[in-house]
Amino acid sequence: MKEKIEEIKKSLESDIKNANTLQDIVDLKAKYIGKSGCITELTKNMKDIPEEERKQVGSLANVIKNEANELISNKENEINTIIINEKLAKEAVDISLPATEIPIGSPNILEKVIEDFEEVFMSMGYDVVDGPELEEDRFNFELLGLPKGHPARDAQDTFYVKGDELLLRSHTSPVQARTMLAKGGNEPVRVICPGKAYRRDDDDATHSHNFTQIEGLIVDKNIKLSDLKGTVTVICKKLFGNDTITRFRPSYYQFTEPSVEMDISCFSCKGKGCNICKNTGWITIGGAGVVHYDVLKGCGYDPEKWSGFAFGFGAERCAMLKYGISDIRTFYNTDLRETKPFDRKEED
Ligand code: PHE
Repeated sequence: MKEKIEEIKKSLESDIKNANTLQDIVDLKAKYIGKSGCITELTKNMKDIPEEERKQVGSLANVIKNEANELISNKENEINTIIINEKLAKEAVDISLPATEIPIGSPNILEKVIEDFEEVFMSMGYDVVDGPELEEDRFNFELLGLPKGHPARDAQDTFYVKGDELLLRSHTSPVQARTMLAKGGNEPVRVICPGKAYRRDDDDATHSHNFTQIEGLIVDKNIKLSDLKGTVTVICKKLFGNDTITRFRPSYYQFTEPSVEMDISCFSCKGKGCNICKNTGWITIGGAGVVHYDVLKGCGYDPEKWSGFAFGFGAERCAMLKYGISDIRTFYNTDLRETKPFDRKEED
């Protein structure tokens, strides 16, 4: 019997050595310590062993049983550890891999330019007001010195919506009339109105049938053309850089007298001449003038007591100049590749 135990011990040790899968462990358990394993069998046959040997054999069988349990379970742990380590190595996350880029939004640059205008004007005491895009003929034309039949209100330029009374405003100047009428003729006005305007233009790199203007109006006592020049100059320096020079050329609008065209020195070539300013050194950014006598009168202000100036900046034009955009359609298409470079510019 003792020899048998020795034999079992030897074979167990060699089997343990050779085991390297969990299935081997299952087999080992069955072979040695399972219900009909050879160690279990040993104890089953105890009664056939002569009395004097039984105790010794019994304790030897116990020792080998405990040993087998321990050896098998140690080996099982060993194999499990190897399996886990292999799995961890296989599933490891490589933190040095570049992450997938998540595109993030950024302000539309046209909106950004409008906000810049609003901020500067508000710091000078102007209110930001709004007006309807679907406008009445009266505000868009009549009150601004453009009676019916005037060439500037030709159907070619204006989108009429219903007969000849309702139209898509062809400029933001009707807000001038609306604001003055709302004030009632006896308090000063100081407003800007950024908004959309519509004209029956063919779209190309510099024209759009739907564009944005920033209208401005101030009405007070003793307002002169020089106040307009001073205000616009300060604004342009703030928006386009301190070294910006403004220039006012005589022009003609029915609702201002005198009227001017507003130019700024080209910020790209500083007036020397380049392709942005078409070699003139100057860039036109809008129209302006002293509010016409008849417009003040028609909108309830006594022109003998009150005077004012008005202006209209082209918002896309200003944004194109500021960000070096050559095509106005860039603002309206949805190709993110075109607006991406400007996002970066803004971050600088
Ligand atoms: N409304 C004019 C235009 O659209 C611009 C302008 C505004 C001119 C205010 C004078 C005063 O061209």
